Amino acid sequence: MKTRITELFGIQHPIIQGGMHFVGLAEMAAAVSNAGGLGIITGLTQPTPEDLAKEIAKCKKMTDKPFGVNLTFLPGFANPPYPEYIQAIIDGGVRIVETAGRSPEAYMPAMKAAGIKVIHKCTSVRHSLKAERIGCDAVSVDGFECGGHPGEDDIPNMILLPRAAEELKIPFVASGGMGTASQLVAALALGADGINMGTRFIATKEAPVHDNVKKALVAASELDTRLVMRSLRNTERVLNNPAVEKIIKIEHDKGDAVTIEDIREYVGGVYPRVMQDGDMDAGAWSCGMVAGLIHDVPTCKELIDGMMAEADAIIRNRLGKFLAA
Ligand SMILES: Cc1cc2nc3c(=O)[nH]c(=O)nc-3n(C[C@H](O)[C@H](O)[C@H](O)COP(=O)(O)O)c2cc1C
Repeated sequence: MKTRITELFGIQHPIIQGGMHFVGLAEMAAAVSNAGGLGIITGLTQPTPEDLAKEIAKCKKMTDKPFGVNLTFLPGFANPPYPEYIQAIIDGGVRIVETAGRSPEAYMPAMKAAGIKVIHKCTSVRHSLKAERIGCDAVSVDGFECGGHPGEDDIPNMILLPRAAEELKIPFVASGGMGTASQLVAALALGADGINMGTRFIATKEAPVHDNVKKALVAASELDTRLVMRSLRNTERVLNNPAVEKIIKIEHDKGDAVTIEDIREYVGGVYPRVMQDGDMDAGAWSCGMVAGLIHDVPTCKELIDGMMAEADAIIRNRLGKFLAA
């Protein structure tokens, strides 16, 4: 399939694997890129820019296809040395960066000078337009369904994508809730040039996470995610567990007075314990509603090939039939 996104990034299929903390390691990115999608290494999972340089070098040994690096500008507990991470990306020869969180404006000149294509993840039309204005090459439009941080507007993709299509000139991918061929076709119909998947890619054979995580995604339904940290204006969609229920109770009890300190033990340092040790109740970890559509753990190639073949059949047969009628 050829779209503005496959052309922009030089990939075979219009499917991107979004950056994911402690999931987006070289193994994940290479598996997606080798399957014809765009794999993405999560920059800040690497503790230092030197570690990111090593992860990029490792990924390059595992694939000769394009892959990207995610740089997340979220309010965190630490302020990472972003210019040095960007230098590691440039020196590593990576020419695609997925930015997320705050605007990447301050870093655009350095990235553009190095010939990097920037796709910024946005949860609203206004942020997407800003991304377009500051020179981003594409946008990942992240609907309310998404795993991770859906923003504070709560607009689902059935509205957000056609709204983005009304306003944007640069290409965009549909992100949030994506996991099947029919959703890919729907996203294309709504004006997107491809899709971005997070949660779905965790339930693949190559995802470098504990089996408990994959089993939890297969077992979860679309009813099993919760929103936490809304009171801190840092809303995150996570898989429910006892720790998440504790956060929700603290937020409910303290209302506007809640601070990050009140919940730090349930949100800080959780990812290695969940993703590497398989301690599923260690705290809050991002997960999308698409969990309800995840019923198996295929290889990335099986997943992507299957989706593309089915998308082809849906367009030719199911949709074509309506035309003939
Ligand atoms: C476990 C997990 C960790 C994530 N970590 C990050 C991250 O560090 N930076 C980022 O920009 N997005 C992160 N995301 C968001 C994904 O890149 C992607 O936008 C999102 O998962 C799309 O929604 P979906 O899960 O419904 O496919 C994460 C998502 C998940 C599920």
